[in-house]
Amino acid sequence: MLFDQLWDFLISHPISIIITLLIIYLTHITLKPLNRVRRLGDVGLFFGKPELRGFYRERQLERLKLLRRIGDLPPVFPNGWYCVCESERLAKNQIMEITVLGQFLSLIRSESGNVYITDSYCPHIGANFNIGGRVSNTTLHLVFTPTPSLQVIRDNCIQCPFHGWIFSAETGKCVEIPYDDGRIPEQARVTTWPCIERNNSIYLWYHCDGLDPEWEIPEISEITQEIWNFGGRTEHELMCHIQEIPENGADIAHLNYLHKSAPPITKGSDIIETDLSNPQPVVQHVWDGKWEVKSEENKHCGVMHLNQYMTIWGYRVPLTDSKLIAEQHGPGIVHMIFDFGIWGKGVVFQTVTPEEPLLQRVRFRMFSNIPWFFVKFFMTVEAMQFERDVFIWSNKKYIKSPLLVKNDGPIQKHRRWFSQFYTENSPRMLKDGSLSNQAKSIHDW
Ligand code: FES
Ligand SMILES: [Fe+2]
Repeated sequence: MLFDQLWDFLISHPISIIITLLIIYLTHITLKPLNRVRRLGDVGLFFGKPELRGFYRERQLERLKLLRRIGDLPPVFPNGWYCVCESERLAKNQIMEITVLGQFLSLIRSESGNVYITDSYCPHIGANFNIGGRVSNTTLHLVFTPTPSLQVIRDNCIQCPFHGWIFSAETGKCVEIPYDDGRIPEQARVTTWPCIERNNSIYLWYHCDGLDPEWEIPEISEITQEIWNFGGRTEHELMCHIQEIPENGADIAHLNYLHKSAPPITKGSDIIETDLSNPQPVVQHVWDGKWEVKSEENKHCGVMHLNQYMTIWGYRVPLTDSKLIAEQHGPGIVHMIFDFGIWGKGVVFQTVTPEEPLLQRVRFRMFSNIPWFFVKFFMTVEAMQFERDVFIWSNKKYIKSPLLVKNDGPIQKHRRWFSQFYTENSPRMLKDGSLSNQAKSIHDW
């Protein structure tokens, strides 16, 4: 009855249909978790006024890479765990190309859900698994063999697109050559890389001296037990050495300058447009932080404590306080545990993945019990503040011996701590942009 009346009303007032659809659409985009993605050049680089576009923009990007002074860099791929994919982005029976440590690798999820990482090039004649390769249990039935009923369905294999050889993604060994029933050559194997799925992401272990994983990535039980829900994600590509990003946590002095004013809606995160030197912005963040090594037993772990609140015209805004404990696990992972008082608690995972020597992919993912509107607001403001750092990182030079003063924060302490992730064979970037040695899997040692 009510529905009929509503329908009659809508039919007789067509404008109301448009308004209803608009409300549905706005509700949809408001409730949808944040997914803010900024590719290289979207943020943090200056393309002139008026801004260069298209071909000219691409050319300017190349020039920036070429002409930029990078400084005396530490090795470019520290030892540690690196995020290579968010779990829900890799379906069962899928091979996905990933870029990490200056090369393409193949990320595989089997029928039963396990994940594996292998080199991408087939040892037979070198075809690339990522372009047309298949997870083998989906293709085994198509393999030309006179006795298909005798075949075992393999759950963890990949099949090369060129001649159809099948390799175990777990051991790397070739397990079948479809057109040859002779002995499989011993060298017919592809390199595998240690990986683990944890806290809804997939991580790869790298150690340049071939050592096994030296620490574990802690599991956050509120996520495994589904107490905290996914709230949104952001992803940024930026042009700098990996160490610059975590060093930000020890650089206490920049918080009350670069991040002091709340990002204005009109200017977003753009530090060229925003007056950062205003000592009294109308809306401002007040930060108080410290950074330290967690403990001798967990020396791979650094911790930043950061308290924050907002003020408007100098008055503290109630309910904007947050307490953060950011635990850095090695060079590429930070678990940021937030306490927002009455709003709730949550974790933001920040992962940095060195895809190329000077190209980092940074992902933030939030899980919490905080109301959706607050999560969205918080993540957007966080991303804008992060983008201010992107403006700095993507253009700066690495200074080996910085000119530090008393209140700069424990930057040197952080550098000494971070240096534990470099060892003798850690790849370095040479003057011509090439690497001293290519990163290889510990299974190749
Ligand atoms: S190149 Fe892979 S099977 Fe031949
Ligand atoms: Fe920062």
